[in-house]
Order: sequence, then C-alpha cells, then structure tokens
Amino acid sequence: MSSDPAITTTARQAPGLKIPVHLGVIMDGNGRWARSRGKPRTEGHMAGVKALRRIVDLSIRYGVANLTVFSFSSENWSRPRDEINFIFTLLRRFVASDLETLYRNNVRVRIIGTRLGLEASLQRLIDDVEQKTALNTGLNLTVAFNYGGRAEITEAIRRIAVAVSAGELRPEDITEATVERALYTYGLPDPDLIIRTSGEQRVSNFLLWQGAYSELVFVEQNWPDFDERSFLGVLEEYSLRERRFGGVEAQSL
Ligand code: FPP
Repeated sequence: MSSDPAITTTARQAPGLKIPVHLGVIMDGNGRWARSRGKPRTEGHMAGVKALRRIVDLSIRYGVANLTVFSFSSENWSRPRDEINFIFTLLRRFVASDLETLYRNNVRVRIIGTRLGLEASLQRLIDDVEQKTALNTGLNLTVAFNYGGRAEITEAIRRIAVAVSAGELRPEDITEATVERALYTYGLPDPDLIIRTSGEQRVSNFLLWQGAYSELVFVEQNWPDFDERSFLGVLEEYSLRERRFGGVEAQSL
C-alpha cells in the first residue's frame, strides 16, 4: 500500500483495496431519486450536490488523486428550460459556496466543457475558482459541465487543423500525444475507473478518448444515494479487475 500521507487510516484498514489514480463518475439518477419520493426533480439535483460533496470528501480520504464528475452534458440542453436553469444555479452555488472548503482542503478545481453559450458571469465564476485553486496540490477535481466527448475531440481536431494550416505542424507528425495535448483534460492521466450510477450501462459521451481502457463499474443506486458503502463496494470490485491494456498479462498500475 502506498505511503502517501493522503491515504488515511480508513483506506489502510482495507488491505488489497486498489485506489484508482483517476476516478470518473457519471452522476445519474437524480430525477428518479426524486420521483421515487414524490418530490420535484430539482430536489433530486440538490441531493445530487450533497452526494458530490460526499464523493469529493471520500476521494480525499481514500487518496484518489484525480476525480472527474459529469455534471451537465452538451445533450442536456434538450431538458426543460427551468431544469437547465436550476442545474446552472446549482453549479454557481457549488462553485461559490464550496470554494472556501475546497480551497482549505487543498483541492484544485477545473471545469471542462465548452464555455461558448455560457453567461459571461458564469464564465467569470469558473475562471475565478480555477485561478484561486490553481496552486493547490491535493485532489484534482474536474467538473465536466456543458461537456461532450465528441465535441471535445472535434474541438481538438479543429485546433490541430489550425496548427497544420498555419504551418506549425506537419500532418505526419500528428500522434496520439498531439491529440491528448489538444483535449480539455491535458495533464490529467486517463481514468482508471469510471462509475455510473442508476443502473444505466452506457458511457454517454463522457471522456470518450480518455476512457478507452477504463474499467467500468455500474451501480444500481441513484446518484443521491451513493455513499461511502457504495464507494467501498465499487473499489472492491475494481480491485478484483485485471487490467491488461490490450496486452495479455496483468500489469501493475
Ligand atoms: C443526472 O440525473 C444528473 C444530471 C444531469 C445533473 C447532475 C447534477 C448534479 C449531480 C448536481 C449539480 C452539480 C453541479 C456541480 C452542477 P438525471 O436528471 O439524468 O436523473 P434521471 O436520469 O433519473 O432523470
């Protein structure tokens, strides 16, 4: 087990538990959580924010170095306007009200996705949280907001094409590393594990390039119910997986 001081007693108490270096989470099922309780969908999203705080805390305690959460996809624009506004308000509140705590916990926050179409005040808030936490050295929290994997790859291709047409890059010099550098996630390792809650078994346009070799774990619980027990259950399942990266033998991480 690692001697990283970020790994707490809790994690050390579970020998053999593998901790992913990068964990991705598709937080799904807020609406169903609310419906099953006869509540409006907005309450499901508010409970979803609580679960988000919980997983940030768990990631810190268990020594996950990078956590990326999918909080609003480019496809979510087809939802009713009121619900979209509410999710945007939640992002504002999360960024504004949790900034102090995140900062104190040495969390570095990044928001990935397209900024086009976001209100100027929201863009400023995003810039602000990224700047204020930029020098933090603890958990890297990446919030995928207004994000879509295909859009991200398309944007990367466009950037590379611009460099080629400007004569800065030759097509034959384009490698996977060139593409990686042009993605929003440049600098982050690929996710080792991606969790999706609510029983759906799809990746839904989340980290398409980066997740090529990620282990996928689908859990039945809706996102607001995802707690430490669920987290440990997922880590136990992940710990049993043998990652071969297209090869034939198990490789250590
Ligand atoms: C999926 O549930 C959830 C979303 C589309 C929004 C996720 C938002 C949060 C967890 C809280 C917001 C946090 C930030 C930082 C913005 P769903 O609505 O698709 O649920 P359903 O599939 O049961 O309808």
